[in-house]
Amino acid sequence: MPRPCELGRASERPDMMPENKRPEGGADKLKVLLVGGGGREHALAWKIAQSPKLAKLYCAPGNAGIAKHAECVNVSSDDLDGLLKFAVDNKIDLTVVGPELPLVAGIYDKFHARGLKVFGPSAKMAMLEGSKSFSKDVMNRFGVPTAAYEVFTHAKEAMHYAVETEMPVVIKADGLAAGKGVVMCDTSEQAVAALSGIMEKKVFGAAGDKVVIEQKLEGEELSILVLTDGETILPLASARDHKRAYEHDRGPNTGGMGAYSPSAQFDEASIGTIIDKTVRPIIDGLRKEGTPYRGVLYAGLMMTKDGPYVLEYNCRFGDPETEVILPRLKTDLLPVMMEIAGGKLRHRSLQWHEKSCITVVMASGGYPGACQKGFPIRGLPAAEAVPDVVVFHAGTAFNEKKEVVTAGGRVLAVTALGDSLRAACETAYQAIHQIHFEGGFFRRDIGRRAIEVLK
Ligand code: AMP
Ligand code: GLY
Repeated sequence: MPRPCELGRASERPDMMPENKRPEGGADKLKVLLVGGGGREHALAWKIAQSPKLAKLYCAPGNAGIAKHAECVNVSSDDLDGLLKFAVDNKIDLTVVGPELPLVAGIYDKFHARGLKVFGPSAKMAMLEGSKSFSKDVMNRFGVPTAAYEVFTHAKEAMHYAVETEMPVVIKADGLAAGKGVVMCDTSEQAVAALSGIMEKKVFGAAGDKVVIEQKLEGEELSILVLTDGETILPLASARDHKRAYEHDRGPNTGGMGAYSPSAQFDEASIGTIIDKTVRPIIDGLRKEGTPYRGVLYAGLMMTKDGPYVLEYNCRFGDPETEVILPRLKTDLLPVMMEIAGGKLRHRSLQWHEKSCITVVMASGGYPGACQKGFPIRGLPAAEAVPDVVVFHAGTAFNEKKEVVTAGGRVLAVTALGDSLRAACETAYQAIHQIHFEGGFFRRDIGRRAIEVLK
């Protein structure tokens, strides 16, 4: 049986408990398969495991942290045939998909054809993330503000344009490139070199058969995530990611080194206005075209002096945004996801804790480049004993001695709730200082700018 919510001693406090307590029995309980094995999926597993509607949670492939809440099954998240067989054999009621790859590869369509419910969009709609040019085209069609752009399929034409056009520009490989397919260019020499790498040397493989070249925007970034059945939109709490590897936003771009929620700069009303400009037009437009977008839609925004511009859409939850959003969510997420998978969202709102949340990612030495794996992780129990802390596992595994060891670039997302962002921040850093593994590093300035703004 999965274990219910544990957020340090905070889980004993009534204000930190899930809205619904876990009742015994009940025929309408669900067997859920969660796909993925990172920090985002640990946060999802932790939340789903608290649902009174849950009968049994499986996770494919999961990790050492997810194993506390779910039975981990040895099927890779991009083995669609293996996942389908598992879901059919185990009579899964709902499959929740974490990463973009299986969504873009068509897990929704494959499962749907066998009458199985999936939380996540169809392959066609997952192209909002899977193809930058498709996504830009949808934004243009429905009047969503986005940077001016051109699409190229021939390297020479793209290079010619890069030499002629005004700098700076941003060059994006059209297809999925594990978050690495975006290159900022201040000079045309940089642009030509980037285009040569992407289109001629194929550093991102077939993802670089096409590129988008767009104007570089200036401003603060903001992530907006909504849950939708293609009609009703339920905004999730706002969150800010920290993408650069090192303090003061230096170093290479990563998947995200830490995040906090809520955003310090934007209140609920202004988030509503931002959603009306950046998300609602495409949800309404796609539904009217007969291809409703269902699942979670993540809009990566640049807040420019002319208002919000969409940098990208993702067809999945953000990582590490999920790790700071879900601990603040009071509402039981499982029935909400089940409604969306069934095509009709009945919930009209979500309830949130009046707390701030912060997560600090502890990564392996060398991340985001190649890193060594298999190092034992010390101090997890001490970190987890800090009140109001939950340690989400991003890249961990058990070794043959049953020790928890590193198994990826991002290893842990050390998460804390607090009455203020400053309090949450102090708690998260208190916890992360308990943890050690060879080569491990983390940014010491997650949330710092926001704390200064709030001051
Ligand atoms: P994307 O995968 O499109 O979100 O790009 C990854 C990161 O590149 C974003 O989070 C931004 O930091 C940056 N970026 C992407 N497009 C632009 C743009 N047009 N102007 C400035 N920065 C951008
Ligand atoms: N944190 C960025 C992403 O999930 O794409």
